[in-house]
Amino acid sequence: METTVLKVSSHRPARAKIRQAGEIILKGGLVGFPTETVYGLGANALDEAAVAKIFVAKGRPPNDPIIVHIAHIDDLSRVARNWPTEARLLGEHFWPGPLTIVVPKADTVPLNVTAGLETVAVRIPAHQVALALIEESGVPIGAPSANFFGHASPTSAQHVWDDLAGKIELILDAGSTSIGVESTVVDLTKEKPIILRPGGTSLEDLRRVLANVEVTTRKMQGDNTRGLESPGLMTTHYSPRAELWLFLGREKETLQLMKERAQSLHAAGKRIGLMIADEDVVFFEGERFLIGRLGSKDDLSKIAHSLFAAMRFLDAHGMDIILARGFGSTGLGLAIEDRLLRASGGKVTKAQ
Ligand code: TXA
Ligand code: MG
Repeated sequence: METTVLKVSSHRPARAKIRQAGEIILKGGLVGFPTETVYGLGANALDEAAVAKIFVAKGRPPNDPIIVHIAHIDDLSRVARNWPTEARLLGEHFWPGPLTIVVPKADTVPLNVTAGLETVAVRIPAHQVALALIEESGVPIGAPSANFFGHASPTSAQHVWDDLAGKIELILDAGSTSIGVESTVVDLTKEKPIILRPGGTSLEDLRRVLANVEVTTRKMQGDNTRGLESPGLMTTHYSPRAELWLFLGREKETLQLMKERAQSLHAAGKRIGLMIADEDVVFFEGERFLIGRLGSKDDLSKIAHSLFAAMRFLDAHGMDIILARGFGSTGLGLAIEDRLLRASGGKVTKAQ
């Protein structure tokens, strides 16, 4: 299959291009499109055969459910039923935006969307291209991140092309995504609202609206989706091809430890990449490591924005091992740490 790329304005996308994409969706095809978090791989969420193509194109296991994207809060009734009052409350506060809620599914939603679950994950993305595409096609759009399964999520159309060219009909290219990490997933079907995946909406912001939101305990017991609350919680996920080692702890000690490790690995003949903040760069001056700069450590939104692109950059340059540092767990720091933890597959060193 030949994949077409259409450049579109992120704020005022040309109607004709959106129409072309909408027609593909309605015919049961696949379209890569931008959202404010990462690029999605979209299909008509109400068309079982179209949704099945997503799993094939991505190499995604069928037990990993897909998020359904709608354009208006009233369209919740097209995909969900008997939702708790918290659903509307969260939707009114955070939509359009990087928050996904899990609620009981409507019968219209095919079971391959939800991986056999009786619940469905829903969000309204804050991106004019995504919203125009949903409106134009007139159907809810099921879309996981538009990367090959297990790879770093795509924050640009080029990333989508690198992973999925030849497997999907069209990519709408509106430049790089603003947030850079995926939406926060909150399950509203349990006794208490539970964050299954931290993301673009912070725990602190959620708690201001729903005081009793809890974060699920992270399970780091290997690369197995079975038994997990949300399959996206599995460990080696969002990974670069290189090994990624994560360093957490007090900043000075962490950087010192990273430098020692990097030097000894380099001496052993490994090509070493670093994922660090602008302020950290001086600490590694004169060393022969390739640096994936993430931005200022005081600007977590910049760090989140650069995270997946840095993984792909270091991979493209053939690094054997990537050493990355965390940025705390407040605000977007929690989502950043979560993605790095998963990319590391558990190779975590805590500096004392
Ligand atoms: O920001 C995002 O959420 C992006 C953009 C494209 O919207 N999408 C995204 O999709 O990250 P994906 O497939 O990469 O991740 C979906 C997450 C997974 O962790 C999945 O397990 C969870 O949502 N999920 C989907 N349906 C669920 C359900 N019914 N119950 C629990 N978790 C669910
Ligand atoms: Mg994904």
